[in-house]
Amino acid sequence: MSRAPFITFEGSEGCGKSTQVRRLAARLEKLGVDFLVTREPGGTPIGESIRELLQFAPHNAAITAETELLLFAASRSQLVREVIKPTLERGVCVIADRFFDSTTVYQGAARGLNPELVAQVNAFAVGDCIPDVTFLLDVDLETAQSRMKTPRRPDRMEQQPTQFYERVRGGYREIAEREPNRVVLLDGAQPADKIDNEIWKTVCSRFPNLAKAEVRSQRSEV
Ligand code: TMP
Repeated sequence: MSRAPFITFEGSEGCGKSTQVRRLAARLEKLGVDFLVTREPGGTPIGESIRELLQFAPHNAAITAETELLLFAASRSQLVREVIKPTLERGVCVIADRFFDSTTVYQGAARGLNPELVAQVNAFAVGDCIPDVTFLLDVDLETAQSRMKTPRRPDRMEQQPTQFYERVRGGYREIAEREPNRVVLLDGAQPADKIDNEIWKTVCSRFPNLAKAEVRSQRSEV
């Protein structure tokens, strides 16, 4: 059996990626296509402990940029081997809410760690598990911040100064320029329906089996 599609979603806080992950998952569910959604950091028992440590542990203000890089990479390395690779090999599509581009951008571009070292750590963590397509939702800071005004407690990564998020946005746009075949840059300020349709069009053009599943389901509805 050939490996199933591996699709990742990226963007800064408030870009709308989690909404689009849910929408793509709902489309696949409706078509009867097997899929799994992952989130990072987390997605395995070890990864969820790392998530808690990174985001909410009371002593986590002392985490250095280097430690942060290694913790995100550790969570991903576990997720890839325990969940993502075996799932893809079983022919089940994986939709990941964040993957290695988040590390390139947050720990590299925004925190300022050496980009070559970050790339090496990323490569070590994921091995040959590279996304087939990455949807990058790009939004201006104002839009992102207005969407983030939720009543819940902000985590450690959400308490950064404005310049940090400017570097995040710039870092993501650079990846999209560097890897136009893998990364699809989307205007995240558009209505969610429009983005959803654009994503689905790309998914169908890249993965003919999913396009066929849609045709089959339309026929069975007639
Ligand atoms: P999220 O659950 O809202 O996507 O938040 C995850 C946070 O962790 C977000 O601020 C981005 C950050 N992050 C990194 O800094 N590096 C990484 O490698 C990943 C996966 C997330």
